Amino acid sequence: DEKQARVLLDPDALEMPPMRGVLHAAGVITGGMLADLTRDALEADLRPKVAGSVTLHRLYPPGSVDFFVLFSAVAAQLGLTGQGAYATANAFLDALAEHRRADGCPGARSLAWPAWRETGLAATAGGLESEFEAVGVRDVTERQAMAAWRHARGCAPAHVVVLPVDRSRPPARPLPLLERLFAQAPPREAADGPAARFLDPSRPGGVCEEEVLAEVARIVAAELGLASAAVDRSRPLAEVGMESIMALAVRRRLEQAFALALPATLLWNHPTVRALGARMVAELAPAAVESAQDEPSRPSPRAAPSVESEAMSTDLGFDALLDELEADTTAGTASRTSADVTEGRG
Ligand SMILES: NC(=O)c1ccc[n+]([C@@H]2O[C@H](COP(=O)([O-])OP(=O)(O)OC[C@H]3O[C@@H](n4cnc5c(N)ncnc54)[C@H](OP(=O)(O)O)[C@@H]3O)[C@@H](O)[C@H]2O)c1
Repeated sequence: DEKQARVLLDPDALEMPPMRGVLHAAGVITGGMLADLTRDALEADLRPKVAGSVTLHRLYPPGSVDFFVLFSAVAAQLGLTGQGAYATANAFLDALAEHRRADGCPGARSLAWPAWRETGLAATAGGLESEFEAVGVRDVTERQAMAAWRHARGCAPAHVVVLPVDRSRPPARPLPLLERLFAQAPPREAADGPAARFLDPSRPGGVCEEEVLAEVARIVAAELGLASAAVDRSRPLAEVGMESIMALAVRRRLEQAFALALPATLLWNHPTVRALGARMVAELAPAAVESAQDEPSRPSPRAAPSVESEAMSTDLGFDALLDELEADTTAGTASRTSADVTEGRG
């Protein structure tokens, strides 16, 4: 409420010097699929970000403060499931930062964060990890967030998107925004994708069916918060609490685990662990034939990962980048564009 805010923030009433800057970090995520979105749910997500930022924008117009920083989120850039309303609210902040900047406010900026590890809103929003994995990005630690923020201060655009990118393997669902960063990653086939461990030419059909089923059960159980053994492989998953957002997360995890592109209707048409397992086996069969033909030149699917590939899978590049950025900032060259801190408009 603008009137109340004006009274509360009056420097005289606060007995403080005049306000030098604004940091807007209010927000909620109600969550839910667009088809189920009610007006109340939409308003709940919009109120703190839209009404809140507009109130502050009016109280502190361009020119009246040194900085006007808005905490936004990558929900819109990543197309995160169940975050349609939240993405809209954050897109408003991004536009407001641009608007203020155009109005002569150099300190106006929206910072679109991924998830802050185990902190605040993201810690309570379900399914984020698998969604991030699918597009090849990670969350940020507080230290990384601070370093990215420091770097952002030297970036020209008013809207800065912070995305730690995992370039050790190509993502299942690459984002056009990050295409350039994955251009030099090894192609999926050459990288001996995750599916390879489920292939064994010595078995009938070339696919390790039991292992596939166990992996499907593990993924489903993890999403349901159960032990693998507790999941009845023949029972419809909807009966044990699998709802639409969880189903989507399971599909993404299956895509990652088996290096497959799977349809959105997967869990609808294959409602049990057993049915999902059978579908994965069928999907892997062509790769099994290919693998058998390439056998002499390919590493054994059972071979332990080499030290080098183990190191690659944990090297997210972001830590090194931030170290570099911190050094750059100290040297006063923070305005250099970085590949992993992606700057974007809108
Ligand atoms: N944590 C993350 O991983 C993450 C990722 C991306 C973006 N962000 C953004 O970063 C900001 C801070 O997030 P957080 O994780 O620190 O969230 P948080 O711990 O849940 O804090 C959100 C704050 O917003 C306030 N708030 C909610 N609705 C409000 C309203 N209508 N009017 C005034 N204040 C309201 C809450 O106040 P009460 O406690 O009094 O309700 C709370 O202090 C948010 O804008 C969020 O969208 C966070």
